[in-house]
This record gives sequence, C-alpha cells and structure tokens, in this order.
Amino acid sequence: MKLKVITSNPGKVREYQKEFKDYGIEMEHFPHPYDEVQTSDLEEVVNKGMDTIVSEGIRDFIVDDSGLFVDSLKGFPGVWSAYAQKTIGNQGILRLMEGVEDRGAEFRCCIGCDIDGRRIVVTGICRGTITDGERGKDGFGFDPVFSHDGERTFAEIPLDEKNSVSHRGNAVKLLIAEMRRQGLI
Ligand code: IMP
Repeated sequence: MKLKVITSNPGKVREYQKEFKDYGIEMEHFPHPYDEVQTSDLEEVVNKGMDTIVSEGIRDFIVDDSGLFVDSLKGFPGVWSAYAQKTIGNQGILRLMEGVEDRGAEFRCCIGCDIDGRRIVVTGICRGTITDGERGKDGFGFDPVFSHDGERTFAEIPLDEKNSVSHRGNAVKLLIAEMRRQGLI
C-alpha cells in the first residue's frame, strides 16, 4: 500500500516513512498546495483541506496540521502558529508571557488520512509549559520555548525522545491504532 504525504515539509515525510515502514505502507512525498480555511479549529482545517483534495480526484493520502496552544493566551497562536512563528517568533511569545504565572501550553497535531475510500482524523496532544527564555539548538519552530517535562525544552532533547512524547508522535500512534482497528494494516 502507498500513501501520498501532502506537505511542503520533507521532514514530515521522513518521519512518516520511519513510523510506517514496519506496517508495509510506503509513504511518498506529494507536494500539492491546498487552501487552509480560516478557523480556530485544527480538525476543521484538516477536514476542509481533505474535502478539497478529494474533490480534485486525489485519494490515498495524508495531511496534517499542527500548532502551539498557550493556555493563558486563550489558545493563541493555535492554528496561526506558522504565521506567529514567522512574525513575532519565539521572542514575541516570551514577551506576551512576561510576568504570567500560568505557563501551561500544549502542542496539538491533527492528522487526516484518506485510505481505501475511508477517512480517519486523529489529534495527538503533548502538554507542557512555556519556558522563561529560549534554550537549546535542536528542533524547529517553538521547540526552544516549550518543555514537556518542566526541565528540558524540545530543542534540548534528542529527536527520538521528542518523537516518543510529541503531539505528532502521539497522533501517529493514534492513527496506527485506528488503522489496525479497522483492519487496514
Ligand atoms: P504545520 O503543521 O507545519 O502547519 O505547523 C504549524 C507551525 O506550528 C509550525 O510552523 C511551527 O511553528 C509550529 N509547530 C508545529 N509543530 C511543532 C513542533 O514539533 N515544534 C515546534 N514548533 C512546532
């Protein structure tokens, strides 16, 4: 079985290839831009994106959308995470959090999979906290200001460890479990 990974990010394709190798599913990079609807809900972004892609005659694919949701900022930057990262960046998030006691936040990753004419949509979450400053050289995006264990940031831990606890890793686990439940793998 082969699934197209519809993304502009080759890093995500490698991650899916690694996770699905053991299940005999080949993951193929398929760059295919699609409009992301303006809504504050990740699952809605994914579902509407999938409707568009299916209406174009493309089947057997995966799309995903992720973001950082900060409790005290009422879920900002959320679905606007990529834009917030590009504009205000990590320093901007830290400034918004100056003097804020509640540092709770979570990364969420929503994966939509079109397979065998069926649709599976799952969301993985990783709870953690926003740090007081940027720490660490690894990772990308908000990794230097997010800690899942209250000690090290995502930019300070090895990638394998990040994948084992991250929102994306958790979403992949949920997707595999659902595919097994439905007898697809
Ligand atoms: P997308 O799923 O590629 O659209 O991700 C949206 C944005 O969320 C990215 O540009 C990052 O800023 C942020 N983001 C998503 N996942 C992560 C992560 O694992 N670490 C750090 N930032 C992330």
